[in-house]
Amino acid sequence: MNRKYRKTVIAGNWKMNMLSSQIKPFMEELKASLPKTRSCDVVLCTPAVMVPAMIKAGKDCKVATGAQDVSCFDKGAYTGEISAEQLADAGVKYCIVGHSERREYHGEDDMLVNAKAKALLANGVQPIICVGESLEQREMDLTMEYVTYQVKAALGGITAAQLRRCIIAYEPIWAIGTGRTATAQQAQEVCEEIRAVVRKMYGARPARAISILYGGSMNAKNAAELLAQPDIDGGLIGGASLKPADFAAIVAATAQE
Ligand code: 13P
Repeated sequence: MNRKYRKTVIAGNWKMNMLSSQIKPFMEELKASLPKTRSCDVVLCTPAVMVPAMIKAGKDCKVATGAQDVSCFDKGAYTGEISAEQLADAGVKYCIVGHSERREYHGEDDMLVNAKAKALLANGVQPIICVGESLEQREMDLTMEYVTYQVKAALGGITAAQLRRCIIAYEPIWAIGTGRTATAQQAQEVCEEIRAVVRKMYGARPARAISILYGGSMNAKNAAELLAQPDIDGGLIGGASLKPADFAAIVAATAQE
């Protein structure tokens, strides 16, 4: 983290878990467990149907609501899709794009991820753009090359002014839901490289200001070490965001200097 230059963000990704009826008890427990003073922004990205309930419950304890996906189209005959304008209209502040699960199970490519990020920015929703290599790519020493490509493609045509509203999340696929976290050093190396890519594209100041999160089996135990890295500005948390005490402990881990 480097709080002098950029925001620390702890975002939970509930994926396809939980029910609306669980939000109130979850948030009550979270509120009781969260530190009284906070050194980060806290976000929970719920399934779209739970967004209104989360917005309502989140107000009380300053937890912003995020979505997990968005259509790249503005409006029209796209059955089942939700537009960025509709998310903004519902009160959504953040939206994940390019999660590896969307890339893998829904065939999303870098062009689509870029179009989705732009649609969000045009509607005042902050994209959390996910990138990350597979185990095979890491073993073939292709991590930096692949992640660099993903970042460049995702940010294509995004202006410096828009970049200020973007968050990048580095999520190595092999660390997601596996309990196998990247070491703090591995995560730092890639996050540092991502910042270097942003620097080449936009210059020193925007690169210094962008928040880069780590995601992949981040939990109450390993959060402090990951967050102590200079280029890791927060976390995108799956499994541990489903347990209020664990999620609150990750938030508390941002309080370190
Ligand atoms: P886990 O924290 O469950 O590994 O999930 C990470 C993730 O995919 C967050 O988007």
